[in-house]
Amino acid sequence: MPNNLHLINHPLIQHKLTLMRRAETSTAKFRTLLKEISLLMAYEVTRDLPLKRETIQTPLAAMEAPVLAPEKKLVVVSIMRAGQGILDGILELIPSARVGHIGLYRDPQTLRVIEYFFKVPENLADRDVLVVDPMIATGNTAVAALYPLKQAQPRSLRFLCLLAAPEGIAHFHQEHPDVPLYTAAIDDRLNHQGYILPGLGDAGDRLFGTK
Ligand code: URA
Repeated sequence: MPNNLHLINHPLIQHKLTLMRRAETSTAKFRTLLKEISLLMAYEVTRDLPLKRETIQTPLAAMEAPVLAPEKKLVVVSIMRAGQGILDGILELIPSARVGHIGLYRDPQTLRVIEYFFKVPENLADRDVLVVDPMIATGNTAVAALYPLKQAQPRSLRFLCLLAAPEGIAHFHQEHPDVPLYTAAIDDRLNHQGYILPGLGDAGDRLFGTK
């Protein structure tokens, strides 16, 4: 397992992920589960967010209390369209986070990545950036998304997914060994269409009910 790979295998996450994988799980349930898992994973991924001290008054005394450093608002970058499901969960936990979107799709024939949208907050230089996409299959999308973000030189950059294939992890770490990758599971392999096995199917279709 590469140094920069973090497997978040909390029992609640594992249980919810199993429910998501089941073919009979409805779109509504799938959406709720992805949101819940994202919230739980975000807890782990953000454990080193910078804090500062602020003087507050409790009912009994004044104290220097920790608060998130406001000038360091987290930026969550969602890879469209399935990243939206993770983004929704994280925004519930961190409502003040800034949001970016990257539109990339895989050409079904070549499996190559085409960028059709890129909009992220300005001045990423003093911000922590978390990129989200539920599936790392070939890794092509994740790898492509990180290059333009790296050009903006964020304070830190990390990637959160739900499921990853060994092929995708290897590709990711070959291109971006400096970017920590967080996942809830590592599956067996890819099929000939680039889907993760056993996986959960097409995350976008299952999230939005488009099939
Ligand atoms: N994207 C998906 O939504 N599912 C896969 O299995 C692979 C890529």
